[in-house]
Amino acid sequence: MRPEIRSFFDKATNAVTHVVHAGAGSRCAVIDPVLDFDQRSGRTGMASLTLLEAFLDEAKLTVEWILETHVHADHLTGARRLKERRGGRLGIGAGVVVTQRRFAELFNAEASFKPDGSQFDRLFADGERLKIGALEATAIATPGHTPEGVTYVVGEAAFVGDTLFMPDGGTARCDFPGGDAAELHRSIERILGLPPETRLFMCHDYMPGGREARWETTVAAQRAENIHLAGTDAEGFIAKRRARDQTLGLPALLIPAVQVNIRAGELPPAEANGVRYLKVPLDRL
Ligand SMILES: [Fe+2]
Repeated sequence: MRPEIRSFFDKATNAVTHVVHAGAGSRCAVIDPVLDFDQRSGRTGMASLTLLEAFLDEAKLTVEWILETHVHADHLTGARRLKERRGGRLGIGAGVVVTQRRFAELFNAEASFKPDGSQFDRLFADGERLKIGALEATAIATPGHTPEGVTYVVGEAAFVGDTLFMPDGGTARCDFPGGDAAELHRSIERILGLPPETRLFMCHDYMPGGREARWETTVAAQRAENIHLAGTDAEGFIAKRRARDQTLGLPALLIPAVQVNIRAGELPPAEANGVRYLKVPLDRL
């Protein structure tokens, strides 16, 4: 069965949320929902989820899965908030425990935080299958940007997370904890081993050259045109990727995002005064 896909681009974070379904009235998966966050005030916001939910209502879709492609460093995930409002099961790649452990150490998370993936309903190992209503999907482990990176293949569509960007945007950085350029290259090779006409859906778009936002391409277009891959072998890619990563600053929302996202979108527990706080580690990042 051919999946229908509706995508939402968040201008504030350049993140794309995808809804995969089998037509009006069906069950759906929401991939990488966004929780708005204003860093200056420390306020979370619902504008992105409200837009998404208006579409779910309009198309009469029931949320069966809320799927994360990885622990994002550039936006807060709306997964937990969406689950509270719409139901569905939270899924992410099994490698999330590695990322949870690293960031729980860095942020000295409370003793009750368990870096065991239990904040999610399902941890996908490589090749595991899931059903989204009548649609069959497979999770492919695609680490390199982060250890838990996972690509969800649903029929002729694949949701690649932060592995590839659009062909004119290249590939994702590999300098976060647990990232590895060689591993990313192997993951990209697996994605590009799918049939050439496979529709690939990006997790981000940074609108290179000031063009309009785009998030869908194909395996064939990535092979022919991706500015980090076309005409380059693995060694060349790894060297270029590492050199470029040394020039990149940290994403604006990394510090708040990872503290929330390792918890599947649950905010850190309230302190004795009833207020929840995020931490800033000094001189560590
Ligand atoms: Fe990312």
